[in-house]
Parts: sequence; structure tokens; C-alpha cells
Amino acid sequence: MSIKPIRKAVLPAAGLGTRFLPATKASPKEMLPLVDKPLIQYVVEEAVACGITDIIIVTGRGKRAIEDHFDVAFELEVLLRDKGKDDILKEVRAISDMANFSYVRQPEALGLGHAVNCARNLVGDEPFAVLLADDIIHHVPTALEQMMAVYRETGSSVIGLQQVPLAEVIKYGVILPETISAGLHRVVDMVEKPRPADAPSNLSVIGRYILQPAIFDCLDRISAGAGGELQLTDALKRLLKTHQIHGLELVGDRYDAGSKIGFLKATVALALDSPELGPEFRSYLKGLDI
Ligand code: G1P
Repeated sequence: MSIKPIRKAVLPAAGLGTRFLPATKASPKEMLPLVDKPLIQYVVEEAVACGITDIIIVTGRGKRAIEDHFDVAFELEVLLRDKGKDDILKEVRAISDMANFSYVRQPEALGLGHAVNCARNLVGDEPFAVLLADDIIHHVPTALEQMMAVYRETGSSVIGLQQVPLAEVIKYGVILPETISAGLHRVVDMVEKPRPADAPSNLSVIGRYILQPAIFDCLDRISAGAGGELQLTDALKRLLKTHQIHGLELVGDRYDAGSKIGFLKATVALALDSPELGPEFRSYLKGLDI
């Protein structure tokens, strides 16, 4: 069996960002700056570094800033060139050169499964990745790179996992695993946002997926699940009837950057690691009387 390369990534970005109000009242949550880049640029870079050439962003009303960010900023580039600011010009241009960007709108916030299904025509009949911008996983190799290694071995769908405290499984998709080796599992069953007492394990889905295109037929067949939404987890559960899915425990610190506290923690971790800002920020933090 020849394993098809993953060329496309779907980035759902139509959510209303209610957990981050009022900051997200008029600006997309995906554009909140994490240190010096908007949140969504981190997952775009993660995908591109894995060889992905086509980025498909699922947007909605009020998300135009995302399209502008990944487009050529003609006037800005002329201005930077005229002022001789070549370094920053190069950086700005690199953003739009990173990949082929396309956009599809999700007219109503009907859930993650629905958002992914909106990208169906743009993905076509090939395996693809899904990355949720909220989930910042700070590690080299990146989360998607770790999963790509499993995909190249197995050719199956792969989902990113981490163990979470049992009390928190209610926030996640959770798998019933059959463990293959340390950190690698065959997914036997899945459930979205279970109560701790009903959870099949504490192995929770973190926002990285490599999916076979058969997921789209499954997405067509699901009905509203947890929270009244069309859930990707329910489509994956359906996919299990015909296809293998592997779950890989991701190595790396994961931050839920869609929440205020997670965003703050991610900001501190990434700023401390920044070659430009890290040293000064570290000595600033050390000097704080807390
Ligand atoms: C989504 C998925 C869930 C997954 C989570 C990871 O939930 O539905 O299965 O565990 O992302 O962040 P959401 O955070 O959109 O409620």
C-alpha cells in the first residue's frame, strides 16, 4: 500500500471566542497575539514545517483579519521597502509566501464536525490534517511531526492525545485505548465530553488530527451530539467501523490558548523561550516581588 503524502491542513476558525470576551468581541480569537505572532500563525507554521502546502481555513462572520494576515500586504510592503526596513519586509512577506491559503465559511457555529465538513470540497479525496489553533503544543519535534511519523508507518488516521486529570475529561474527546507500545494506542472507541464516571480512560484528544477522507461520509451521517453540536469525535467513532485509527500521546507542554489562563501560561512559556525576548523577560520575572 502506498501512503499518500499529507498536503492539506484544515484549520477551523469560525468559533465565536466566547471564553475570551471581551477581547474577542470585534476581533477574531485566532488573531490574538501570542508573544509576537497571532495564535493561528503557530499552527500554520507547524503544518507547513511538516510539508503541508495547502492551508484551508474555515472562517465565519467577523474573521476577515485572518485572511488579511495571510495575504500580501501591498501598501505595507511598499512602505517598508521605501523606508529601507528590509528585515521586517522579509518577515512580513514570508507570512503570505508560506503556503497556498484558501478559505471557506461556516455559516453557523454547528460544531467542530460541521466545520471540518465545510472544507470537504477543498480537501477532496485525500488524507489531510486538522489543527485547532487553541491547542498550542510547545515542543520540538512538533505535535504534528510526531503524528506524521505514525502516519508514515501505518497509513491510518492518527489523533493526538494527552493524559488529563480525570476531573477534566468532560472538556475533551476521550478514547478507549488498546495500547500497542508506550504512548501509542489503537483507538477502540471514543466519546465526546464524558463525565469522569463514564470516561473510558483519561486519554484525551488534543487538537491535532490526521484524517482519511472517509471521515467526510461519516461527518455526513452524524447527528447533534455533546452540547447539541455536530462533533468530530462522533464521526471518528463511526469511522472506526471501517478504518483503523491510531492515537499518539503527544510529547510537549500543551496550553489551551482559547482560555484566558491558558493563553497567559502560553505567553509566559513562549516568551521565556524567545531568543529575542527571553533573557530580558526572564530577569524581569525574577525581579518581581511575588
Ligand atoms: C474539541 C474537540 C474535543 C477535543 C478538544 C481539544 O473540543 O471536540 O474532542 O478534545 O477540541 O482541544 P472543544 O475544545 O472545541 O470543545
